[in-house]
Amino acid sequence: MALYSEKVMDHFRNPRNVGVIEDADGVGEVGNAKCGDIMKMYLRIEDDIVQDVKFETFGCASAVASSSMATELIKGKPVSEALKLTNKAVAEALDGLPAYKMHCSVLAEEAIQSALDDYYSKHPEKKPEA
Ligand code: FES
Repeated sequence: MALYSEKVMDHFRNPRNVGVIEDADGVGEVGNAKCGDIMKMYLRIEDDIVQDVKFETFGCASAVASSSMATELIKGKPVSEALKLTNKAVAEALDGLPAYKMHCSVLAEEAIQSALDDYYSKHPEKKPEA
């Protein structure tokens, strides 16, 4: 069996939503200390909808594919759904990742959470009740 699914290879070779959003409503950057990979997410949020999302990832193929898929999963969706995005959902949408590459999808979940934290720090009135 191939190490990576076709979807992983597709999102690695043709990543969706790469780039920067100037004046983004939320920006999050996370890294993994062990592998040194870094992921940055930019969110444009209007009317509680993720209108746009872009990413920059300096990392492995799984990290690039995970960021790309994660952006596709939350783009155009309510912020409440983006908040619930898990690394498992990202990995499943990619038709799986090798076990030792699951941490790459964790980076995508954390980057989005971090961007949403940034958004809520600027708009505390939008924060859902705990
Ligand atoms: Fe670290 Fe993939 S090896 S994010």
